[in-house]
Amino acid sequence: MSVSWRAPGRVNLIGEHTDYNEGFALPFAIEQGCTATVSTRTDAQLVVRSVQQDEPITVAPADLAPRAGGWAGYALGVAWALREDGRDVPGLTIELDSDVPVGSGLSSSAALVCSVATAVNDLLELGLDADALLALTRRTENDFVGAPTGGMDQLAALRSVADHALFCDMRSLATEAVHIALDGLRVLVIDTRAEHRHASGEYRRRREGCEAAARALGIRALRDLGPDDLDSALARLDEDELRRYVRHVVTKDERVLRTVELLRAGDTAAIGPLLTASQASMRDDFQITIPELDVAADTLVEAGALGARMTGGGFGGCVIGLVPTELVEAAGAAVEAAYARAGFRPPASFVAHPAAGARRIGA
Ligand code: GLA
Repeated sequence: MSVSWRAPGRVNLIGEHTDYNEGFALPFAIEQGCTATVSTRTDAQLVVRSVQQDEPITVAPADLAPRAGGWAGYALGVAWALREDGRDVPGLTIELDSDVPVGSGLSSSAALVCSVATAVNDLLELGLDADALLALTRRTENDFVGAPTGGMDQLAALRSVADHALFCDMRSLATEAVHIALDGLRVLVIDTRAEHRHASGEYRRRREGCEAAARALGIRALRDLGPDDLDSALARLDEDELRRYVRHVVTKDERVLRTVELLRAGDTAAIGPLLTASQASMRDDFQITIPELDVAADTLVEAGALGARMTGGGFGGCVIGLVPTELVEAAGAAVEAAYARAGFRPPASFVAHPAAGARRIGA
């Protein structure tokens, strides 16, 4: 007996590095995803195979400890987290097939973890509900793999609704699907294919900086600052770096809320300036962009995009542009030309269609 589940990658429309500050984010799932086919074994081993990897990884239950398994850790960690919760996990064969480009900031890791978690939940009839699946997948990434991510990616992979963005309140973990009217518009994704240089260390530094700022301000998380508190909060912080982080997070939460209002009103075109303002905040205040991201975002806007911004953790990965349908091809070509002029590696691009979250495949 085996079951297959597919979980998607995501782009984040707006709201970056807000999740671990208990703020707001607005991702949507993309059509690219990871399919996990899971079956029980007659022995107790955990065997993980991937179409994208040469060698399968086999781990005995006794060796199932955080950081084990290399690339397979995202799958093995699900079994580990379930065992930590006192569940009995038999030997499993886990077969993976993903078309989310790795290292492009499109959450290939959350797609993998969520496909495995939903498939194992189904196969073993664990009865985990949406909240328990979220907790399980976050724990896998944070505690087993050791990636200090904030939870937005797993929420998007588990709960997205086709043709909608997922408005996430990262404090309550409540989500609301908000329709994205894309008549005459497309979300063009430019994958810079730039290496994620120092991405994990810089991500951790931002996260720790935000937490330090919240401590210095005597609040639980930066979410607790509204726009009216910003000036007094900035005046109370000594370090310029922390001031920049706080300004980014507070202004970003406001931009997410405004974007949600506009989408609810069906006015997708009007979110363009918010996307571009968000790019400036990530470039100047949070300092998580690199030249490839800046050139792609600027070029998209020059080529007629209504707005453009990097998406994901930063330091590489992708830019999204909200582009009138008739300009999509020319905008992609303009970025390619700008990259050639700058001596960057050629980018890849695709049009993203808001897709559904994790779902069972086949019978
Ligand atoms: C990565 C993390 C997320 C989130 C984004 C930035 O994708 O996995 O939790 O923090 O960066 O918004």
